[in-house]
Amino acid sequence: MKHPDADKALSSRRLFLGTGAALAATSVLGGTSAAQVPAPTDAAATPAPGLNRKRRLGPLEVSPMGLGCMSGSAFFYPLPGKARMISVIRQAHERGVTLFDTAELYGPFTNEELVGEAIQPFRKNIVLASKFGFAYDGNQSIGADSRPATIRRAVDGSLRRLRTDYIDLLYQHRVDPKVPIEDVAGTVRDLIGEGKVRAFGMSEPGLETLRRAHAVQPVAAVQNEYSVLERGPERGALAVCRELGIGLVPWAPLARGFTTGHFGIGTRFLPGDYRGGLPRMFPDSMPANLHVVALLERWGVAKQATPAQVSLAWLLAQGTDIVPIPGSTDPWHLIENLGGVEVSFTAEELVRFRGELEAIPIVGPRGSPQSMAQNGVEAPPKR
Ligand SMILES: NC(=O)c1ccc[n+]([C@@H]2O[C@H](COP(=O)([O-])OP(=O)(O)OC[C@H]3O[C@@H](n4cnc5c(N)ncnc54)[C@H](OP(=O)(O)O)[C@@H]3O)[C@@H](O)[C@H]2O)c1
Repeated sequence: MKHPDADKALSSRRLFLGTGAALAATSVLGGTSAAQVPAPTDAAATPAPGLNRKRRLGPLEVSPMGLGCMSGSAFFYPLPGKARMISVIRQAHERGVTLFDTAELYGPFTNEELVGEAIQPFRKNIVLASKFGFAYDGNQSIGADSRPATIRRAVDGSLRRLRTDYIDLLYQHRVDPKVPIEDVAGTVRDLIGEGKVRAFGMSEPGLETLRRAHAVQPVAAVQNEYSVLERGPERGALAVCRELGIGLVPWAPLARGFTTGHFGIGTRFLPGDYRGGLPRMFPDSMPANLHVVALLERWGVAKQATPAQVSLAWLLAQGTDIVPIPGSTDPWHLIENLGGVEVSFTAEELVRFRGELEAIPIVGPRGSPQSMAQNGVEAPPKR
């Protein structure tokens, strides 16, 4: 069945292409202001049909696609403003999204406050995910910290900011190289016993650490970067998740906007925008990596879908244990992305798509050296 908003998404897609061509020489990406983007009020209450095809993350049942809320408060500039992001979160809920992703780190703290306010009217009907794992000096994150007392303090703060008495899915944001994972998993197990948390997740863990954690407290979901541009989970994490019955939640499923067709050779980011420090988005890497977008465009023509929709549909087609959480602060992008659940691939198309994708060399690592050093970390042994 065709998504009722497919035509709208496609017509807005044509609008994007027109704008993109005009900006191709030198564009500065930073989102659009609320004044430029009218809210799609005519369709706001229409649930997207495919969002009813629920998926599981351990004990949690969720819509096949969630909403990443991070860029409502952090990392991509300019920020949208609180009112606009609250409106996008509520529209996502009206359309059938039941998984909302935030973290103590986003802001820090302010994204949880925003999400807490946004979800108040429907908190009991959704799966709310947040993350702990860092120490702070005021509002400055100063490194990994997953000591049990820090986890407990973080969770109490998250609960207060999220205006709730339980977090459905609590992730360790990054493995702490100083704390045995048994202590971390044991603390989360205790928090589950106390009713403050429903399920345990890990983000970018070392795979032995994931197994050790799972032995103490079953892990419901691993949240790793995964997209057509970044297929790292296929080199081990996905197989371990499948062996252990753990769901995979791809973060940056649109490669931080890269695979939407909005980025061009001349794209530059506003000062402070995190993406300006990502080697794959450096001006020298762009021409090669944009071949991935050209591939998405080609498949999009055949499937009557936008590059963002093809990107998300491809992830969904990798298995029913995969639940992408595209981030958006824009109501029209939200509609477009949710349309991705209606785009399907046959088995033969998946093979052909993969062949074409793997023929494109991706230039540059996925993150800065500092962020890469925090991925795949193994926790020290328990003595
Ligand atoms: N576990 C971790 O370490 C980790 C790390 C990073 C992120 N995350 C989580 O993953 C979520 C998603 O990741 P992400 O936000 O970094 O990357 P993403 O979802 O790949 O991309 C988000 C970017 O794409 C743009 N975008 C989205 N849909 C679009 C569309 N249809 N057309 C054009 N542009 C579009 C957004 O801009 P607009 O706002 O203008 O739509 C935003 O700039 C985050 O919100 C966060 O919850 C987790």
